[in-house]
Amino acid sequence: MEAAKGARPGGGPWAELLAWYDREKRDLPWRKTRDPYRILVSEVMLQQTQVKTVLGYYHAFLERFPDLRALAEASEDQVLAAWKGLGYYRRALHLHAAAREAAARHGGELPRSYAALRAMKGIGDYTAAAVASIAFGEPKGAVDGNVLRVMARYLGIEEPVDEARTRRRIQQAVDDAVPRERPGDFNQALMELGATLCLPQRPRCDACPLEASCAARATGAAHRLPVRKRREKVKAERRIVGVVEQGGRVLLVKRPAGGLLGGMWEFLNLEPAGAPGVADEEQLRDALASLTGSAAAECRFAGRVTHRFSHLLWEMDVYRVRALPLQASEPEAGSGWTWHPVERMHEAALPRAMQKVWERVREAAGTGQGPRA
Ligand code: ADE
Repeated sequence: MEAAKGARPGGGPWAELLAWYDREKRDLPWRKTRDPYRILVSEVMLQQTQVKTVLGYYHAFLERFPDLRALAEASEDQVLAAWKGLGYYRRALHLHAAAREAAARHGGELPRSYAALRAMKGIGDYTAAAVASIAFGEPKGAVDGNVLRVMARYLGIEEPVDEARTRRRIQQAVDDAVPRERPGDFNQALMELGATLCLPQRPRCDACPLEASCAARATGAAHRLPVRKRREKVKAERRIVGVVEQGGRVLLVKRPAGGLLGGMWEFLNLEPAGAPGVADEEQLRDALASLTGSAAAECRFAGRVTHRFSHLLWEMDVYRVRALPLQASEPEAGSGWTWHPVERMHEAALPRAMQKVWERVREAAGTGQGPRA
């Protein structure tokens, strides 16, 4: 990569970038620590969430789980509860899995190299590179969505950035550019550029430290780069969702590990056997009876709620179901379902799709609290 040549030692565009970062970087809590665990937590939180949102959760999470061991010793549900509101819960489960692996195999510490971090369950390329460079000073490029955009523009890449070979090309370019002296700052400088100047819409090229050597700036292409593959049409899937209430408690069912929303709690969520309508109610009644042994006293349609995942659209026909109290059995430990108190629903780390369902049911019931007045 031409532009990287001036990077070492000092001088050239990357030195400009670091000088800009030194002047302009935001004062963020994870930039004041070298503790690998704290850096790991910040990087996982920042993966799909903006800095200002993460700031509202970071300290509380670290207070609750001050080190890797504390996190490893917590249950999945405790971790999900502390993550509640940040969304994308799978990354919390990954973080938890990594903490457990560190406790079991690395004496409760994070391993100190990119390769060893990357080999851990739950830690991907980006996170391994970010932690290795920021906490351990390893010169490895951390390429997230912001960095893909910055580099696609800087190098004038016209191929889609969501193709594997383009990503590899950008990863290589960043790896080549990372200075040995300040790898963590360099990676964070690229991210910072993407977050503050090299914005998806209306990039602020006139304020950019890389302006003089940026390919997209030279050709006026910044606003239309990066290019993405045409999105495949998402598959729409109808679901039958039952919010089952019994004596001030709501039925929650744990999804199987792995797969979509693996390991997370949800309401009764069924693949329809037929067309919408009465058959839905029958299916809900059957599922409720076979899972809990309870019969449904009442089943009312509450409306349709949609939720889009990256590749799939759930069209959820939502029902409020009241189970007969006397027949509602209690789950055995580990049975994968539970009766959860209505007044503690805010503590249940429901995936976003199910939060929407809960909101709909509350609206339908016309109360601020539960599925029924
Ligand atoms: N996004 C991802 N990692 C980040 C970091 N360390 N600082 C700011 N934004 C980020």
